[in-house]
Amino acid sequence: MMRRLLGLLLLTAIPLLLVGCDSGGTAELPEEEADPPDTEEPSGPLRGLAADRGLTLGTAVDVGALMNDSQYADVLAREFNAVTPENAMKWNPLRPSRDTFAFEQPDSLVAFASRNDMSVRGHTLVWHQQLPDWIENYRGQEDTLKAILGNHIKTVVNYYEEEYPDQVTRWDVVNEAINDNGERRGSIWQETIGPEYIALAFQWANEANPDAQLYYNDYSIAGGGSKSDAVYDLVSGLVNDGVPIDGVGFQSHLSTEYDAPSDQDLVDNMQQYQSIGLNVAITELDVRIPLGSDDEPSNDQLQTQADYYSRFLNTCLFVSNCSDFRTWGFTDAESWIPSTYEGYGAALLFDEQYNKKPAYDALVDVLYQDE
Ligand code: G3I
Repeated sequence: MMRRLLGLLLLTAIPLLLVGCDSGGTAELPEEEADPPDTEEPSGPLRGLAADRGLTLGTAVDVGALMNDSQYADVLAREFNAVTPENAMKWNPLRPSRDTFAFEQPDSLVAFASRNDMSVRGHTLVWHQQLPDWIENYRGQEDTLKAILGNHIKTVVNYYEEEYPDQVTRWDVVNEAINDNGERRGSIWQETIGPEYIALAFQWANEANPDAQLYYNDYSIAGGGSKSDAVYDLVSGLVNDGVPIDGVGFQSHLSTEYDAPSDQDLVDNMQQYQSIGLNVAITELDVRIPLGSDDEPSNDQLQTQADYYSRFLNTCLFVSNCSDFRTWGFTDAESWIPSTYEGYGAALLFDEQYNKKPAYDALVDVLYQDE
């Protein structure tokens, strides 16, 4: 962080020094020997810059858009070295019935990732949302649901390791198990199996692929506070019990309406996980903007958005236990925000026409800075 500040100060000071040198000077450089001024601006693609920093730089992918929009596919492959299926690996699309696994949609993404040298973060094995009716309405025995969950996790994790070896390197094993008030969230899993479903889920995933990095993933936990503390308690309890967990995903759905967590809070929060041997990842970053009647973000809003994106990336690069930074989609043409938050949008790095936004340039700048 200090280096970044020094870097910023130097960047600001150099032009001032040059202006100072120039004042009143009469000497002229010999025309033919003068080097052309170095005016090259830092630019993308992001994935090459990320590779130089040892960073996994990913985004959530809508498989429908990937299949139907060649520009979506081109920009995705050009800019990112990792993907997360936005929906295709969730229970509802993947498990139409107890006896059926619908692997076609997620397979098309994993195959795309393989062709384009991208890793995949599996998302998500246990969640309270997007469950098929046959699970949502389950009212049977604890042992049966336990067997169904165990079978699901082992089958899915094992399938990807066998069909696409080493491609799905990380899994969001358990998603959003803590409520905003810090208590365990009620769900079919919690109510039927009990709180131990979380430890069991990690154990089953680890059995199926001992090499995969296994994460707990949640929102509103990046910058501290009571929910963040509750997640830390849960996760440190798992570590103490010897449960195979490798990290915690900070989803990070932000809005320009609210302050982002401070750099210091983010660093402290990330480092508390480092102290118990865990990695952290920024798994779902987006920064939604309240739009006016013209549906266009203002320059100020775009600058605030760029600032939030760059601070999160900068912090991830600063701590040694974060090397995985992902946005929840990359083009405003495909984002969950407008249908969920009426009047909000423009949350991502590219606009609806795939033009780069200030947030994109801000990430380029961060990636260009010296380590
Ligand atoms: O599956 C149906 C499909 O059959 C139907 O044709 C279509 C028509 O509307 O709806 C489809 O389901 C929708 C699904 O997205 C796929 O488009 C669901 O109604 C809709 O609720 C679902 O929203 C997703 C949401 O999770 C809930 O699963 C969003 O796209 C997705 O961005 C969002 O992602 C979550 C992360 O997984 C976890 N963290 C929070 C994040 C944002 O909510």
